[in-house]
Amino acid sequence: MTRSIWKSTDPKNNFPSLNEHINTEIAIIGGGITGVTTAYLLAKSGKKVVLLEAGTISGGTTGDSTGNLYAMVDKRLHHIQSKWDEETAANVARSRGEAVDLVEELVNKYQIDCSFKRVPWYLFSETDQKDETIEKEIAAAANYRLKVEELQELPVPVKVSKAIKVEGQAQFNPAAFVRGLAEKIDDGNCQIYENSEVYHIQKEEELVLSTITGTVTAKKVILATHTPKGIYGLQTALYPYREYAIAAKLNSGDFPDGIYWDTEADFHTSMRTYSKGGDNFVLVLGGHHKVGQEDDYSRFFRKLEQQARKYFDVSEISYEWSAQHYKPADGLPYIGESSDDNIYIATGFSTDGLTYGVLSAMILDDLLNGRKNEWSDLYKASRFTPVKSAKNFINENLNVAKQYIKDLPGKAEAGSFDEIAAGQGKVVEVDNEKWAVFKDDTGQVHCQSAVCTHMDCIVDWNDAEKSWDCPCHGSRFKATGEVIEGPAFSPLDKRSMNPKK
Ligand code: FES
Repeated sequence: MTRSIWKSTDPKNNFPSLNEHINTEIAIIGGGITGVTTAYLLAKSGKKVVLLEAGTISGGTTGDSTGNLYAMVDKRLHHIQSKWDEETAANVARSRGEAVDLVEELVNKYQIDCSFKRVPWYLFSETDQKDETIEKEIAAAANYRLKVEELQELPVPVKVSKAIKVEGQAQFNPAAFVRGLAEKIDDGNCQIYENSEVYHIQKEEELVLSTITGTVTAKKVILATHTPKGIYGLQTALYPYREYAIAAKLNSGDFPDGIYWDTEADFHTSMRTYSKGGDNFVLVLGGHHKVGQEDDYSRFFRKLEQQARKYFDVSEISYEWSAQHYKPADGLPYIGESSDDNIYIATGFSTDGLTYGVLSAMILDDLLNGRKNEWSDLYKASRFTPVKSAKNFINENLNVAKQYIKDLPGKAEAGSFDEIAAGQGKVVEVDNEKWAVFKDDTGQVHCQSAVCTHMDCIVDWNDAEKSWDCPCHGSRFKATGEVIEGPAFSPLDKRSMNPKK
């Protein structure tokens, strides 16, 4: 089982699940950093809010994130500058910096026990081939009034050719922060429900959200679900990827805190340090592939372990996990009102989601309170940027088209259930239909249709996470078919086992 270091501590307080009908002004779906921070700000401003989380607060992507907060971006500020312009890149850095400031303010205000600290961010090249990237980022960061320094060595044992250091970024335990903040939300204005998965949104005069045991009627709905639930045209501009992480316990070495990113194109990694229970860890994150489009998912963990052992005195790999992110076509997230009236979205954060999640909350709070927000036009969800989006849009949507074509009849992974090992899943063709078949550790077989309930792509078995992952828009399902994440609302359709197979 994979599990992130942040999810290794059970939450102290649980919230109830929804068992009634409620009317409210604003319903938020999703209890990660975006949903909880938005709920906090809206409740503070007097709005009546209901937050529905399918699992537990911070139990989704937030709990699988890095715990890094920074003004910089994964794509690099100098790329934003060349794709857009200097003003846009400056606004990205400024807006993200304000989001990090808000996290610090909330941690201090409520004394949230989440190991928040300001740390430097580093980007380094291991060979001089990437020095130019470093030089461009130094120039861009300096331009945007970030406190920048050029270095020839790092405070961790990684040999570098050149590095940039930006002071004043931050790290924390993201799950502890989100849970801590959820407990501080004004409960006179906001009700939080866990284990309350929304499986349908009905558009009537108002919006009606259904869970198995209750409903919420709201004037406005915020989909703080990482990617919008349901079918939206915007999904052609959002590309789902997975990234991997390990937490390696160290035998020796006590390294200064910091966010360390390399510039390797083949296997880009980021590192950070973390202390827990008297042990020092280094977290190494990297590997990167389209969701549902790998043959061997576990290989990424092995590669990260090699990276960790190359530089550090590692005692054991204590945690392994992976997380999803959605790349936006034009390089910037989509935050604001969607193409559906009264439904708001916050998505396309790439791997910079913790900071963008908080920034989304700030923008949505202003929009829903009728206040002007300095950044809302920059990240507007309905923007149309064909020139800036064209390259990614064409390549990524060709890739989606290929996923549909490659799953034509006759291309199953196994001819019979006997070919499936215990603990594994395979797509099997049964009576001209693709089935997603999982054999559990006791040998019991679980059968469901392999057709994704979002838009009918065929799902792929993920051997690292024991899940069915859709290669088209990133929906993921448990081995037994229930939705984990992504735009799909419904589980995979159950099938009865065919004795002949
Ligand atoms: Fe869209 Fe599966 S996520 S078809």
